[in-house]
Amino acid sequence: MSTEKAIEVRGLRKSYGDLEAVRAIDFSVRRGEIFGLLGPNGAGKTTTVEILEGYRDRSDGEVRVLGHDPQQRSRDLRERVGIVLQSTGIYRHVTVREVLAHFAGLYPHPRDVDEVMELTGLGGKEDARTRTLSGGQLRRLDFALALVGDPELIFLDEPTTGFDPAARRGAWDTVRSLKALGKTVVLTTHYLDEAQALADRVAIIKDGRILVEGAPSELGAGTGAAYYRVSWRNGDGLLNQRETDDPTRLLHELTSDALARGQVLESLSVTRPTLEDVYLQLTADA
Ligand SMILES: Nc1ncnc2c1ncn2[C@@H]1O[C@H](COP(=O)(O)OP(=O)(O)O)[C@@H](O)[C@H]1O
Ligand SMILES: [Mg+2]
Repeated sequence: MSTEKAIEVRGLRKSYGDLEAVRAIDFSVRRGEIFGLLGPNGAGKTTTVEILEGYRDRSDGEVRVLGHDPQQRSRDLRERVGIVLQSTGIYRHVTVREVLAHFAGLYPHPRDVDEVMELTGLGGKEDARTRTLSGGQLRRLDFALALVGDPELIFLDEPTTGFDPAARRGAWDTVRSLKALGKTVVLTTHYLDEAQALADRVAIIKDGRILVEGAPSELGAGTGAAYYRVSWRNGDGLLNQRETDDPTRLLHELTSDALARGQVLESLSVTRPTLEDVYLQLTADA
């Protein structure tokens, strides 16, 4: 496999005993993009990213992360990758600055600790002991720990779960600033709006399978959800809606009809399915 991509995954499988948590998935992540793994709880997101991180061994398939097989746990790869795990809370009795400085010391080219605290919204908390931090502040510390080694590639596993709305927006800004720095980001989330707001491309995963993959705005084409929604109001103000995979023809019929009757189609609009439409349709239980 080439190393043009930050990540390449082919036929990845992972079983826990009888449970097939990941069932032959393929995807790749380009350098410099934010890639979202979107899916409900139990879909296999954490299993997948922890295999990419080298925290779990795969059952089958091929995986390349920055040109390495993460299962080899090479030092080079570890130094180039930053990780925010789904669960956290290990360093309880040290200050924010101490834990960051400690981690910075583990990397060959760390970022400036003060800069990292600023970037992650921890300014003012430098000397606080980590056990006194709120949940949201601890999550920021997780972010800061993932960034302090100045990694090329950052894994964020449900980075905003449990955040209040303001803290979520703050975390989104941090993720966007990572992209602006040229970093590659792999993000898991079960929040649609988060995937829509942040990801250049998403893969929707359920029961260990990728159902569809693409830019959030383009998902829908080729998924069975490939419809357009045409809506307009009647003269009496009633809303009409039709779904079609051929909006050219439908619009022609509607508008020529209306013109022949000397009517106007008020509020006429054509919309593509949103990521939410596609997600709900694909992940609905049969
Ligand atoms: N260490 C493990 N041992 C056994 N089963 C596991 C383990 N980790 C995850 N699972 C199971 O694998 C499936 C996928 O889990 P996970 O990857 O954590 O999904 P997600 O992160 O999308 O919620 C779930 O059914 C979960 O219960
Ligand atoms: Mg998970």
